Amino acid sequence: MADPHEAEKAAASQAAVARVRVGMRLALGTGSTADLAVRALHAKFPDGGGLTCVASSLRTEALARDLGISVGPLQPNDRFDAMIDGADEVDPALALTKGGGGALFREKFLARRAQQLLIVVDPSKIVERLGTRSRIPVEVVPYARGSLIAQLATRNLTATVRPALEGTGTFRTDNGLEILDLRPDRPLGDPGTLETELRGLQGVVETGLFVGLASVVFVGHADGTVDERRPAASH
Ligand code: A5P
Repeated sequence: MADPHEAEKAAASQAAVARVRVGMRLALGTGSTADLAVRALHAKFPDGGGLTCVASSLRTEALARDLGISVGPLQPNDRFDAMIDGADEVDPALALTKGGGGALFREKFLARRAQQLLIVVDPSKIVERLGTRSRIPVEVVPYARGSLIAQLATRNLTATVRPALEGTGTFRTDNGLEILDLRPDRPLGDPGTLETELRGLQGVVETGLFVGLASVVFVGHADGTVDERRPAASH
């Protein structure tokens, strides 16, 4: 089925890619919008532009490679000029929910090593509070799953194990882990505190709450215009 948000996502992606310069080291996100950004990179730099990239998922790595973009493994002291990635939700402070595509650990790992995290979204992702339109994904060690579900229930978080995309069983991330999708009893007032709490639970490897990481959020519109949002303290 055609994606009704494709033109919006493409506009956002192109605006982010307009920031990319020859020779940059880039981290590539995951998801349908990040895919469009990878395609926009290829369109802007058909000969590769001297870019070197690290992907946040096997899926993105395969796409980049197919397009002839130089993509390789993470280096021990890697730093990126920028990372371009999508999001499932963006709140007014530019806190994000991510991980709908299952790549949250690698996405956050790379985002923390990027000078600029450029987020590309369509307007449907903009919310007043995280937890409004999507669940909060948490990447967990399968062994701890049952214990975590019980502990989360005491915090009014209903956790569902993400099922495999095809067939039976559970979804596995590129790290071989499972994802619990959390439904809070109400949209989040303080995502940063919840992130810290969740990361303190043994068996939680990473959460899909990205707080204080986004440098710019590009919100694309179907007519090709793009709003750029920045955190309140920056210009
Ligand atoms: C991947 O794990 C996610 O963090 C994606 O960035 C997020 O789900 C947005 O995906 P879409 O661009 O496909 O909506």
